[in-house]
Amino acid sequence: MGTAPGTGTHDSPGAGSGTARPPARSRLKETAMSNALTIRDATDADALPIAALMLQAGEGLYEFLLDGLVPDLSAQAILAHLIEAGDGPLGWPECRVAEREGQVLGMVNAFPVERLDELALDMIPLDRTTHLAPLFQARDPGSFYLSTMAVVPTQRGVGIGVALIAEVLGMAGARKIPRVSLHVWSTNKGAIALYERLGFTITGQVTLPSHDRLSARRALLMARAV
Ligand SMILES: CC(C)(COP(=O)(O)OP(=O)(O)OC[C@H]1O[C@@H](n2cnc3c(N)ncnc32)[C@H](O)[C@@H]1OP(=O)(O)O)[C@@H](O)C(=O)NCCC(=O)NCCS
Repeated sequence: MGTAPGTGTHDSPGAGSGTARPPARSRLKETAMSNALTIRDATDADALPIAALMLQAGEGLYEFLLDGLVPDLSAQAILAHLIEAGDGPLGWPECRVAEREGQVLGMVNAFPVERLDELALDMIPLDRTTHLAPLFQARDPGSFYLSTMAVVPTQRGVGIGVALIAEVLGMAGARKIPRVSLHVWSTNKGAIALYERLGFTITGQVTLPSHDRLSARRALLMARAV
């Protein structure tokens, strides 16, 4: 990208010159991309919007892990505390945000996959971590792990996700890590299509036992070279 990871700027791709009125999605794309999008390092002040976006990407995973752990704190509030504290793999130093005009529109959290072992799972009831153990164990050793990525609903489909993945590839390359890996729920067809379009292939899959607190069960492991 020509800039240091975490400071990239993505300009408008430019509108077409034809006279026909573009379809609605193209118009959204033009409007959304007309002001520069900045991808920057997150700070502790971004913890709340990052937590809200992480919850959307997890499709129930974070609520499954965190609900009820701290009296009167929602899963989102607990997650925001973890991100703000900054010392674990989910912390703000491992996040980048996509921002336009001061608004956080997207986030990505990524780190060397071995850091999954640093997740503070001991504060979580054993039945929850045991249930998810097959997911954490199905990993691509030595890869850079794209843990979570999400874009605010009104801004999806205009290229922010692509820009965030480019950022992650740059982060891995800067650390000389040869592959990026990720998990995605098998029902998340839009995200899977995006990853495949960007060169990720399915390298494994995990099916969790059924659980009344987590509807998502089948996850794909995907990876691509940097
Ligand atoms: C997946 C996600 C991060 C992609 O970000 P994005 O900014 O919408 O992606 P881009 O605009 O760069 O790329 C668009 C592609 O994403 C895919 N996509 C996934 N969900 C989409 C949605 N709701 N709207 C539009 N495109 C979506 C499509 O393949 C689309 O390709 P197309 O433009 O050829 O149709 C975003 O849709 C999102 O936040 N989804 C909810 C959280 C999530 O599922 N995260 C991934 C968990 S592994």
